[in-house]
Amino acid sequence: MPRLVELYLGQTPESRGFYHPYPFRRGILNALFTYMVLERRFSRGLLHLAPRAAVVLLVANRPGDRRPVGYCTVRFVHDADGPVKALFGSLVSADAQGMGVGGALLTGAIGVTRAHGLRYLTTTFLGSNRVSADWVRSRGFVITPTAPDLRRLGEPNFIGELDLWTQGPVASGSGPELVSVSTAR
Ligand SMILES: CC(C)(COP(=O)(O)OP(=O)(O)OC[C@H]1O[C@@H](n2cnc3c(N)ncnc32)[C@H](O)[C@@H]1OP(=O)(O)O)[C@@H](O)C(=O)NCCC(=O)NCCS
Repeated sequence: MPRLVELYLGQTPESRGFYHPYPFRRGILNALFTYMVLERRFSRGLLHLAPRAAVVLLVANRPGDRRPVGYCTVRFVHDADGPVKALFGSLVSADAQGMGVGGALLTGAIGVTRAHGLRYLTTTFLGSNRVSADWVRSRGFVITPTAPDLRRLGEPNFIGELDLWTQGPVASGSGPELVSVSTAR
């Protein structure tokens, strides 16, 4: 867990801001990661009782190296009368970007979505995050504008949605020899 905190804190403010507009400090990060690790066994049950409390944390490692090179969170959102949807956010270390780590995390997030019996995987990103926009669009996500993030008022905000029922297999762009993805412990 401390390694995930260091991974986050070691990125540029811009990259951290793309991951989440809220600038997490060390104490908050420790608490959040601890919750996610402890909660991992209960996410399916929580999904029915309290979707907003359910979360799955996936961590990417190079084989044989315990230092994470990226991670993603899969949370569960429930709008008004719509279905519960999975919502993922990912962060990959600057020195590991462009090598398929994000793709491997996305593949893992799709697996989590299916394992929880859900149809839709979504992600939100700021308008200035061109890498994410191009990436998720190329993987079959349908992108639409969404309400501005309250912490980044004035900046366009988008949501990408992948329909796992109509979308075929999504290419990850990564081979298992490059990185392994697993739930955090
Ligand atoms: C978005 C992010 C998670 C992607 O991770 P990654 O490990 O670089 O992803 P991949 O290597 O699987 O590449 C995914 C696509 O992005 C492209 N890409 C990655 N880094 C790039 C860069 N610096 N410039 C341009 N394109 C880039 C890759 O070419 C690839 O596209 P392709 O498959 O069509 O060739 C990573 O860039 C990141 O952590 N960014 C900061 C946080 C963020 O934006 N999170 C997403 C919003 S929650």
